[in-house]
Amino acid sequence: MSQLRIEHISKWFGRQHVLHDISFTFQPGQVNMIIGPSGCGKTVLLKCIVGLITPEEGKVYFGDINFLDLSPEEKRNILRNLGMLFQSSALFDSMTVGENVAFPLRVFTQQSEAEIQDRVAYCLERVGLAGTQEKYPAQLSGGMKRRVGLARAIALNPQYLFCDEPNSGLDPLTARRIDELIQELTEEFHTTTVVVTHDLKSVMDMGQRILFLYEGRAEWQGSKEDMLREIAALPSNLQAFLKASGLVRA
Ligand SMILES: Nc1ncnc2c1ncn2[C@@H]1O[C@H](COP(=O)(O)OP(=O)(O)OP(=O)(O)O)[C@@H](O)[C@H]1O
Ligand SMILES: [Mg+2]
Repeated sequence: MSQLRIEHISKWFGRQHVLHDISFTFQPGQVNMIIGPSGCGKTVLLKCIVGLITPEEGKVYFGDINFLDLSPEEKRNILRNLGMLFQSSALFDSMTVGENVAFPLRVFTQQSEAEIQDRVAYCLERVGLAGTQEKYPAQLSGGMKRRVGLARAIALNPQYLFCDEPNSGLDPLTARRIDELIQELTEEFHTTTVVVTHDLKSVMDMGQRILFLYEGRAEWQGSKEDMLREIAALPSNLQAFLKASGLVRA
């Protein structure tokens, strides 16, 4: 497993400086969390890492390779190893569940139809949705859509799994179940998992390595244990963020 590392990432939208010089090393085989208040730049940072947005400055290393230096063809080889679950699932509504999960296999592999159908069945079973291939997204609950999104994200057996607010808009029990699933998949497939969230309960349940963003700056990074050990030693904006969540006493 090659390490994922970002160095000195900066991003502007016009005159708005959204990300300021962000560096972080993601731990392989663990759930790494990017946390922070709404609008602090979490989604933009995730998109910079997976190549959907190009930062003005900085490097994104998958192993020794800076993704931003690669040709489109070389980028494709990296993208094949990334699984992504977007904010609010982003399924193709006109495709069945089975076709949604098959989509990355059709784009990135030369597998036969039988192989694709086997893999789709396996991934759906793995997220607790065996036999739902023929349904359409509109026929599914929010939690089920998120599971289909996860099944699609793991279809290519990726080394890296990226999830943006994987449990937003779900009831608390369903939200916990999605968190558990992400944790299980991370352990089972040894993915380097990156979860963006402002849900502190998720952080407590599955976070291992934490990057706290505040107004586009990396204000704090470390292990969850470090974060919880001595709250008073943390930057004041992180303390406020933790206290506002109600999980840490004010
Ligand atoms: N495509 C874009 N063009 C211009 N500005 C953008 C674009 N995408 C994001 N921004 C701005 O960048 C900032 C950070 O946005 P981002 O979506 O990363 O926040 P976030 O931390 O993910 O928030 P949330 O928790 O609400 O999802 C915001 O001020 C947003 O308006
Ligand atoms: Mg976001």
